[in-house]
Amino acid sequence: MEERLQKVLAAAGVASRREAEEYITAGRVKVNGKVVKELGTKVGPNAFITVDGHPVHRERKTYLLFYKPRGVVTTMKDPEGRKSIADFVKDIPQRVYPVGRLDYNTEGLLLLTNDGELAQALTHPSHEVNKTYEVTVPGIVPQDKLDLLRIGVKLEDGMTAPALVNLMGYDYDKNLTRFTVTIHEGRNRQVRRMCDYIGFPVRYLRRVMMGPLTLTGLRRGDCRELFNEEIEELRATCGLKRDPEKKEKPAAEPKPEKKAKPAGEGKPKRIAVVKPEGRKSARPRIKSEEKSVKRAQSDKPKRIKKV
Ligand code: URA
Repeated sequence: MEERLQKVLAAAGVASRREAEEYITAGRVKVNGKVVKELGTKVGPNAFITVDGHPVHRERKTYLLFYKPRGVVTTMKDPEGRKSIADFVKDIPQRVYPVGRLDYNTEGLLLLTNDGELAQALTHPSHEVNKTYEVTVPGIVPQDKLDLLRIGVKLEDGMTAPALVNLMGYDYDKNLTRFTVTIHEGRNRQVRRMCDYIGFPVRYLRRVMMGPLTLTGLRRGDCRELFNEEIEELRATCGLKRDPEKKEKPAAEPKPEKKAKPAGEGKPKRIAVVKPEGRKSARPRIKSEEKSVKRAQSDKPKRIKKV
């Protein structure tokens, strides 16, 4: 993705955008060895930029969808030495951080990014991004108890907002109830505490959706980059404007003659998933999603070496 030179310089922490513009017009900035004085100049992710001869170190904005397994802490490092997210993204050069958190024993969808603006917007209560959880509890939960969750329950930190609750079914043989809960708040252990409140403590909890993102095609421990469209949808979900540097999709043109695609084109970028100790296979399994998601990607998918 190409971005305006002054934006790149500002994002790299070289200067404010206004100052960066001054550097450019003063001829202090070179792109791939050539002085660039045009303010509208756009540069690609691999352009080599210098200011007064000093290389500018850029960190590509990175958005990863991670399927956190149970028994992993939602931090990049655990002082107690437990498995953490860092164990799964060792080969990603960018420093990404989790957006929000899942309990140690909760599994499911977690967004990792180095885009502070988006992370902040997504976790801000005013943006009300929906998160859906699959819940399994022992026992047969009567409808009136589920209705309590729908209305809102009183927890020690206040009433919960009305939740969307969808009964998936009763398993009479195993004496279990399965349902989904969709909430937009992000309080600590909220779903577990809501279930405690109705007298049915959680046995199993998995986040399956956050805003427009789902776990489709990912296995536990897998990680993949988001599509540009997904990033834009996420931005829109939390009230951020469309990234002005991102081109709109071009209007439909007459179809060119069909050409065989080089292998890998049109697929999401694969990420190396590091095999944490004790895990049998760390191969990302995103094939089914690759097949089902037919989106025009504006940037070419890049394969990253697997470990
Ligand atoms: N609610 C919980 O109780 N736990 C989580 O990990 C996420 C939401």
